[in-house]
Amino acid sequence: MRLTRRDALQFGLTGAAAAALPGMGFAQPIATPTPSLNQLAAAKGMRFGSAVAAGPPHGPPTGGTINNPAYAAVLTGECGLLVPENEMKMYALRPTLDGYRFEAADRLVAFAEQHGLAIRGHNLLWHKPKYFPNWLQSYDFGSRPASAAEKLLVDYVTTVCRHFGDRIRSWDVVNETIDQNTGALRETVLTRHLGDRVIDICFHAAREALPTCQLVYNDYMEWEAYSVRHREGVLRFLEGLRSRNVPIDALGLQSHIGGDADVASATGRPEPKAWHDFLHQVTGLGLDLLVTEFDVNDRGFPSDPAARDRAVADYAKAYLDVTLSFPQVHDVLCWGMVDSVSWLNSPEFRRGGRMLRPCPYDGEYRPKPLRQAIADAIRAAPPRTPRHAPHA
Ligand code: G3I
Repeated sequence: MRLTRRDALQFGLTGAAAAALPGMGFAQPIATPTPSLNQLAAAKGMRFGSAVAAGPPHGPPTGGTINNPAYAAVLTGECGLLVPENEMKMYALRPTLDGYRFEAADRLVAFAEQHGLAIRGHNLLWHKPKYFPNWLQSYDFGSRPASAAEKLLVDYVTTVCRHFGDRIRSWDVVNETIDQNTGALRETVLTRHLGDRVIDICFHAAREALPTCQLVYNDYMEWEAYSVRHREGVLRFLEGLRSRNVPIDALGLQSHIGGDADVASATGRPEPKAWHDFLHQVTGLGLDLLVTEFDVNDRGFPSDPAARDRAVADYAKAYLDVTLSFPQVHDVLCWGMVDSVSWLNSPEFRRGGRMLRPCPYDGEYRPKPLRQAIADAIRAAPPRTPRHAPHA
């Protein structure tokens, strides 16, 4: 399938980026399998989607961005729902105190709407100092720090929610506030002045700004043995929110499964029964579930690519069979669709070593056994009442 200049323009490629495509070795859009993962999901009352990056305006046709026609073709061919990988985080939307930068996020929302896809928001507060914008780390909360901190949070959440309005129907309001090792709420410059009211304030402000939006707590507690304390901490945290009538609708299961540990080791092995019990207790609180960032960290899997892909697919199917058995799951999103542009292969996270193969498509944009495993798990899942209007 050769990309024409007209196609390039359709994806918003102009000038050098569009001219660079033919014959320059850039990946060409492929025809994705039918039925698509989203069509399979829709038949069960679910949606399938993926994270995506905006890239710079008129950027090069490469990477996991909407500038890359090959990547865009996988997204529009397989997905009914997108989520910005980084563009709606506080450090991206408000990198300095003196203003907001919505341009990249707005381009992603426009791309989604142009292709009839829904888009969910990620995230209003990543309650982890490493991902606070610098100005927040050094913010002067003045002589009445608690009210200043509350005002800062309410103003930020309200500004962002109102900017996108009902174009976003589901938000990760708070991300990763439970320490995976202790199971406790992270302590930050915000909790120093507000304690755990930090979390309540964000959810109440989001509900006030968007009364019908799905409000989600998103975290990476996993089904592997090493995650037991993280699961326990998240459950206690959710029970606390419910006991205080905090307006939360769902738990986001990031689902970055596999992990660095050897999946056959005592700490790295999966615990399907414990995972099922955890999900049973969470849904027992009246909460829905989402698979928000699915991929398989295959560091601990066999080195041979074919054997690794098979093992990854079987591991993923087993995880999704347990997770999708809960009718409270309505959305399943991968954290990227193509191995070569996965966050796990970025310099910051790959930490040297071999290329990882965490996504449904390989670096040549060919579907892998993992894509088939996701399709099989969706086909095997019990049907449920759709929570959102189905897209394309
Ligand atoms: O855009 C800058 C670029 O200008 C600069 O040259 C480059 C080198 O410093 O950094 C670029 O920003 C990077 C950004 O990704 C965009 O590529 C940041 O350094 C890098 O830290 C950031 O990593 C993202 C990470 O969250 C932290 O925000 C990953 O792409 C993203 O996949 C990852 O996603 C998180 C979810 O939000 C939450 N759950 C875990 C998941 C994986 O860590």
